[in-house]
Amino acid sequence: MAKAAVEKVTAREVLDSRGNPTVEATAHLSDGASAWAMVPSGASTGRYEALELRDGDGSRYGGKGVLKAVANVEQVISPALKGVAAGVQEAVDRILVELDGTPNKAKLGANATLAVSMAAAKAASASQGKPLHVYMSGGGPAGLPVPMFNILNGGRHAHNSIDIQEVMVVPAGLPSFAEALRCGAEVYHTLGRLLRERGLGSNVGDEGGYAATLSANLDALALICAAIEDSGYRPGDECFIALDAAASEFYDDGNYTLACEGRTLSSDELIDLYRSWVQEYPIISIEDGLHEDDWAGWRELNRVLGARVQLVGDDLYTTNPRRIQTGVQEAASNAVLIKPNQIGTLTETLEAVSMTKAAGWGSVMSHRSGETEDTTIADLAVGWNTGQIKTGAPCRSERLAKYNRLLKIEDELGDEASYAGMAAFPHICSRMKGASL
Ligand code: PGA
Ligand code: ZN
Repeated sequence: MAKAAVEKVTAREVLDSRGNPTVEATAHLSDGASAWAMVPSGASTGRYEALELRDGDGSRYGGKGVLKAVANVEQVISPALKGVAAGVQEAVDRILVELDGTPNKAKLGANATLAVSMAAAKAASASQGKPLHVYMSGGGPAGLPVPMFNILNGGRHAHNSIDIQEVMVVPAGLPSFAEALRCGAEVYHTLGRLLRERGLGSNVGDEGGYAATLSANLDALALICAAIEDSGYRPGDECFIALDAAASEFYDDGNYTLACEGRTLSSDELIDLYRSWVQEYPIISIEDGLHEDDWAGWRELNRVLGARVQLVGDDLYTTNPRRIQTGVQEAASNAVLIKPNQIGTLTETLEAVSMTKAAGWGSVMSHRSGETEDTTIADLAVGWNTGQIKTGAPCRSERLAKYNRLLKIEDELGDEASYAGMAAFPHICSRMKGASL
């Protein structure tokens, strides 16, 4: 196997889908192979995420420039990686972690380290003549993930909309990724028509989903169910609903305020509200249903709903193996959202995935609300066999780039392609249909 070494890593400041600066790094290898990677950026970031280094200099991009991170890549990381075998990802990432030396990438910036980590992997896969997902799989089982399409945006991603940040459709009951993508796009367009017919507005939010003016979170569920049925799919059998409440964003001092409904709930009352939604609608997954420090609430949520619904920790875990370990010990959820830029290297991200799977939990590879044309997460979802991916609505090319990449992978795998389907939800004993709480 070719073991080309890193010659140098270059970097530049580019712009993400919100027009904010982000880091692009290019790894150049000794055999002439090279590859670039761009990092995404969140808006509803968790308190425990690795640091995204920004210049803080108000004269450029309102302080959001990333020239310090770019300089860290070229002046600190590149010389340290010279001569290291790019095809040994753990070696590359160990150097990044040691060079940084902080628990949260506070010195170099996770945007600098992740850009380099991904660029090295892509360059090594090019050098070995393998597709990135094959290179990342290391020969292990691979599969096409179930997509979660965020077709209705709220919270921090769409002002004047609902409190729930994301309402997604999940075509887990269809036979292939291509059919799932078609379902997602058809339901998306039907929802647009329903919103226009009802005069509810059909502008889109940061992740391409509609940002409609609804007066209750429950209305979103009814509308999406109608959109699934009107598109000719069976809710609760072929196509399900997933929510990302991003509840840390509407939490204050022990309470949860649903501004669009004008009411404030305790942790227990919010759990009860979720339970009523789950009884009425085919909800297969709820992400960040509670605040990132409300561990007692999470345990209760998992006790009440965990056998029936996937409960995903995003801000709760921030892709951090130490926090995931705590979650497993405490039985705080049954799934983890996987965002490479929350932790800052591919090796640490893979550790988070492996831990999640070892616990028998679900894992969801994820984009950020600020994205780029980089499609690495699509290959990671297949190569690491995460079973699920969420990368926005089937709208706006920074989102479609990932879905289209998955279409291509499924096509190229031909007969060997296997769509995860319901098997991606290992803890849910039966399909929603007919199940009762
Ligand atoms: P973010 O949102 O990228 O703005 O953090 C995505 C999410 O909460 O899952
Ligand atoms: Zn989230």
